[in-house]
Parts: sequence; structure tokens; C-alpha cells
Amino acid sequence: MTSPLERKYNRVARFYDVLDRGFERRRYRPIRPRLFHGLTGRILDAGVGTGCNMPFYPAGASVTGVDLSQAMLKRAEHRQHALGLTVELRHADIRKTDFSNGTFDAAVATFLFCVLAPPDQTPALIELKRIVRPGGEIRLLEYVYSARLVCRLIQRLWLPWMKFAYGAGFDRETTRHVREAGLILVNETFVYADMIKMIVARVPDPGAPA
Ligand SMILES: C[S@@+](CC[C@H](N)C(=O)[O-])C[C@H]1O[C@@H](n2cnc3c(N)ncnc32)[C@H](O)[C@@H]1O
Repeated sequence: MTSPLERKYNRVARFYDVLDRGFERRRYRPIRPRLFHGLTGRILDAGVGTGCNMPFYPAGASVTGVDLSQAMLKRAEHRQHALGLTVELRHADIRKTDFSNGTFDAAVATFLFCVLAPPDQTPALIELKRIVRPGGEIRLLEYVYSARLVCRLIQRLWLPWMKFAYGAGFDRETTRHVREAGLILVNETFVYADMIKMIVARVPDPGAPA
């Protein structure tokens, strides 16, 4: 049984890159490298989508991309071939995967948690905590409501389209869910105006010196 979100992304997949092109060029592409800066080893790209992060994967890292939508994964597959990369792509729901504990050194998720419904946020973060090794980082890129009245108004006008096309919202309290999931919040930084936030969390390592 496919979920409504999976069906939505299966429908939007073929238009996704075209619809996002302007934002991707001007807004997202300058930010994406920051998500991967300094990461090495086995990296998970959760909600890989059409693979917009691929050009920024660190050289030498072994990256696995997972997504709920087969149609988005197909696009990601084309992109990895076009870029000459080898990325393991898997159909999986990030709330419950079959990766073993501590499989990854780090995980990145760009614009995934603004799509996940509020009740799914903590379970998804708990799953990331399980499959990233103790001490490993989880880095998230998320839209939030601006504190500025005019920007917030524009976001509210934009919201029906965001919901219809992507199932996304600006009201996800991902930072709160990071704490609820038992992750250590390392920092949260605005990377585009006060609307796109990069959240860095760490998986607790009971063996680390205090
Ligand atoms: C807004 S897109 C972002 C795609 C990509 N990360 C990017 O930055 O362009 C959200 C992606 O998350 C995927 N997704 C949604 N819910 C998911 C889940 N529970 N598990 C895995 N992927 C999911 C969607 O299919 C979609 O490809």
C-alpha cells in the first residue's frame, strides 16, 4: 500500500526539478555544500529525492540515498549516471528502515522534515539515531516561518501550493523533535534569510569521554 505522500511524490517527480529550478539555482545550490562539509565515510542522504545533493557529496565518501517514492528514485538514478557517481539508492521509509544499528557515519536530510507530518518527525529522528553510529552527525535543512511579518505573509500565501505540490509546511518544530528523539542539538543556523535553517545534531556516544 502506497501512502498519500508517496503517491504525491510519484506524481510530482517528473516536474520536480523544473518546478524547483529557480529556487534550486538561486537559493538551494549555494547552501547544499555546507551540509556535507567535513563529512567522510558512509553517509546517508535521507529523502534523496531527485538527487539534488549529489553534486556536493564528498569525494571518497560512500553515499546511500533512500526515498519513499520510486519515481523520485528513478530521477536520482538518472542524475547519478549523468554525474558519473556511484550512489546506492534504496526504496525505504525513513521512519523504519532495515539498516543495521550504526550503519552510517553521518546522515543528511534536505527538505525532508518539512514534508514529514508532525507525528512522524520524532519516529524518523529516532530511526536516524539508530542507524547513524554513536558520535555521528545528523544534518538537516528545513524551511521555517520567518519572524518578519511581510515574509511570513508571503509564506502563508505560498503555503497552499507547498502543501498541494510537496506536502510541505513551514511549521514543523524539527528542533524540538531532535531533542525528543534523544539526539544532542549541536547547533541551528539560518542559512537563507530567517527562512531556511540548518540543524546539526549528534547521536549520543555513551563511550565518549565526558
Ligand atoms: C521536498 S523533497 C526533497 C528532496 C531532496 N532531498 C532535495 O533536497 O531536493 C522530499 C523528499 O522526501 C521524500 N520522503 C517523504 N517522506 C519520506 C519518508 N518517510 N521516507 C523517505 N523519504 C521520504 C519524498 O519522496 C521526496 O523525495
